[in-house]
Amino acid sequence: MMDDRTLSLRVAAAPLVATGLRRLHLVAADGSRLPPAAPGAHITLTLPSPAGARPLRNSYTLVEADPERGYQLIVRRTDRSRGGSHHIHDRLQPGDTIEATVPHNLFALHSQARKHLLIAGGIGITPMLAFVAHLREARAAFELHQIASADEAGVFAALLAPHPGERIQVHAGRDACDIAALLAAQPLGTHVYTCGPGAMMDRIAAVAAELGWPASHVHREDFGAAGGEPFTARLARSGIDVAVAGDQTLLEAIEAAGIDTPSLCRGGACGVCILPLSEGDPEHRDHFLSEAERASGCHIMPCVSRSRSATLVLDI
Ligand code: FES
Repeated sequence: MMDDRTLSLRVAAAPLVATGLRRLHLVAADGSRLPPAAPGAHITLTLPSPAGARPLRNSYTLVEADPERGYQLIVRRTDRSRGGSHHIHDRLQPGDTIEATVPHNLFALHSQARKHLLIAGGIGITPMLAFVAHLREARAAFELHQIASADEAGVFAALLAPHPGERIQVHAGRDACDIAALLAAQPLGTHVYTCGPGAMMDRIAAVAAELGWPASHVHREDFGAAGGEPFTARLARSGIDVAVAGDQTLLEAIEAAGIDTPSLCRGGACGVCILPLSEGDPEHRDHFLSEAERASGCHIMPCVSRSRSATLVLDI
């Protein structure tokens, strides 16, 4: 451990598990025990950016976390990548060291749930793999529904092969899983956990609300999409203008300008990165601010949210 918040990890192995999916096995660079992590936890890797600019920080869910054996991640190589997944797929080699945060968990299983309903889309399978291993061991009631495109269904079925049984279903095609019927069939006290494309998670949340599920029983994990129109962030107290590129988050642009600001999930969920806003038309993409807080226009979550106006003025 480099300090109480940062880990130095060594890549023990990095096999390709399917086209575009690489598994990373990370151990402590100094051979020590790693901090334990509950299912659903993630770490944030510091990765070099392609243009030699300030490093990228990407969050990945831990598929397995064992203090002795190490951490396992599965990373998809994405065309929309700003360089993080390309670096992991194309350049990272066994023996390399990499810096990471200690694990944080914003997507924990609810201990009072009568049953756990897990619904994943595509690479959203990663926290579910950790959940399934834990729930099987705990002999808890659960179901997992993995939704995948028809040509990738076999890949995700293979990842789930260590967990055979009727409780796990892979649905080939976005419309192959009847979300409304699935939610309607669950016993009272079930919690649903979703990870995958934002539209899928929005739809599940909307259906759950229509069926009268308490919002506290609906959980989601998303690491935000960065893309959008470029804009300028004016940092009023610092007296500088920061250009936010189309493939960059507001948080990354502020960090690149040399201004350190706290962050944790970097996906619009935890609230740690909240910044005061004084002017502009924000495009809120987070899941932290309430509707009333959004309407007040006083704050923004820079890890995911952007601007509809050409300039956004922040009171920092
Ligand atoms: S870092 Fe968690 S909401 Fe921005």
